Formats: sequence, structure tokens, C-alpha cells
Amino acid sequence: MKVLAKSLLLQKIALKHLKNGDEIGLVPTMGALHRGHVSLIDKSVKNNDVTIVSIFVNPTQFSPGEDFLQYPRSLEKDLFVCKKSHVDYVFVPNVNEMFSANHKTFVEVKELQDILCGKFRTGHFRGVATMVAKLFNISFADKAYFGMKDFQQLKILEKMAKDLNFRTKIIACPTVREKDGLALSSRNAYLSFEERDLSACINKILKQAASEFKNKDLNSILKAAEVKLQKIPNLKIEYIQAVNSKDLSSINKNSEFCCLVLAVRLGKTRLIDNVLMRK
Ligand code: PAF
Repeated sequence: MKVLAKSLLLQKIALKHLKNGDEIGLVPTMGALHRGHVSLIDKSVKNNDVTIVSIFVNPTQFSPGEDFLQYPRSLEKDLFVCKKSHVDYVFVPNVNEMFSANHKTFVEVKELQDILCGKFRTGHFRGVATMVAKLFNISFADKAYFGMKDFQQLKILEKMAKDLNFRTKIIACPTVREKDGLALSSRNAYLSFEERDLSACINKILKQAASEFKNKDLNSILKAAEVKLQKIPNLKIEYIQAVNSKDLSSINKNSEFCCLVLAVRLGKTRLIDNVLMRK
């Protein structure tokens, strides 16, 4: 396994693999790797000749006042995880390598970036889309692997890849959960013991709501879920909403493919989750 910090070098290596006819898989991460990331890496290793994992806590996707400085960083452990998972290249650039002081170019996916989490995290998806576009250009990846936990991110990146004609195919991978249902996230490390216990209710409430989708009116399902969530101590709902699972558009009573998405704050920790539902 090679650890690289320079984009030009990775680009040269990736181009060689491309010319060789190798299939390249990319797993973009911000590090603090957990079983969710490992499931993406395993898929990439299994289905490609070469796997590149990027580790970069991207400052451009944190809004002012967010947890950029506190975000967990565990490079040594992450490299160990990558090595054990048979990753070929780990790309670990520094901030100046990715976003020099003179960086002027950003990718925006209009409308999709402004709804749901985008309402609460100004500039977040612009930072994500720009970072991922750069990684696609650096890695020449055939496939890039993203978890469905970040559902809005996934849909925005699918749209970006289509609109900008990237050769990279986006592969959506199922959310990996704790035994009690909590979706794995590097930010779960912020939860206190009590909050961690309470957090298990979030997915249970979502699943219950989704199970009623076929037979009940959507507004009453959402209202009931909201009431249950509000009973959790120290929990604040940012949003709970049903959207079209293909493109995040609004749904109506005839919509077939939906996703129930939510974001909450439990104490100081922001948690997101979603479940797919079908009529
Ligand atoms: O999902 C993440 O960890 C990040 O948003 C990503 C895709 C690596 C871009 O920085």
C-alpha cells in the first residue's frame, strides 16, 4: 500500500493504471474510518483492480461555527485499517494541496444543495461537490463508493457526475448500523453515554413511520414521528421529510419511490438518518 500526499503524483499513477486497462475504485473519506467505510472499501477492493482511499477533512464543507477543528482525526489507525483491507493507494493531501489560498473554482448543484441539510449547513454541499469533483479528476476512477446514510450527498453527487459528464460511476452502498440501529458515523464519537443510548430510538422511529407508508396518510405519519422524536430528552429536530428517492424532489400521494430523511441534534451532536419506503 502506498501513501501519497501530492495530487499530481496520484494522477500520474492513476493514469498509468487507466492505460493498463485496470478498473479503478475510489473511496472518498474524511478519515476516522469505521465499519461503514470498511464496507465501501471491501466493495471497491472486490470489484476493481485498484482501490484508492482518500482521507481529507475538507474545510470547505464545514460552515462557520461547525466542528472542523474537533472532527475526529486518527490517521495512523486509518492507515492500518486501509492496509488490512488491501487498499492499494491512500491519498492524504494537506489543505494547501487541495485548496490553496488562491483557489477560485467551486462546483454547485443548484436547488439540491439548498434543501434539507443544505438549509442548516450553508455551503456544505458546495464544499462536498468541489472536493469530490477534484478527486474524480485526480483518480480517474471508474467507480466511486458512497454510503446511503448521507442520502442527500449521494443524490447531489449523482447529479453532479451526470451534469458534468464525469466518467466515474457512483455506487450507492447500504448504511451500516450498530446492533441497535444507530447509523455509523464518525460523529457518533461525540455522543455521551446517555445520548448514545437514546440515539437508538431515531432509527426505530423512522422505521416505524416507513412501515406505515403504504396504508396511512403521509402527513399524519410525519406528525406522529415528530411527536415521538420530541419526547427524546435533549433532542432537537432540524427536519423530518419524505422526498422522492430518485432525485430528492417533492412527493405527492401517488409517488412510489420515497425516502424518509431526517436530521436532529442530540445534545451537541448532529445526526442524520433515512429509510427508503415504497407504496
Ligand atoms: O462523506 C464524506 O466523508 C465527505 O463528505 C466526502 C464525500 C469524503 C467529501 O469530503
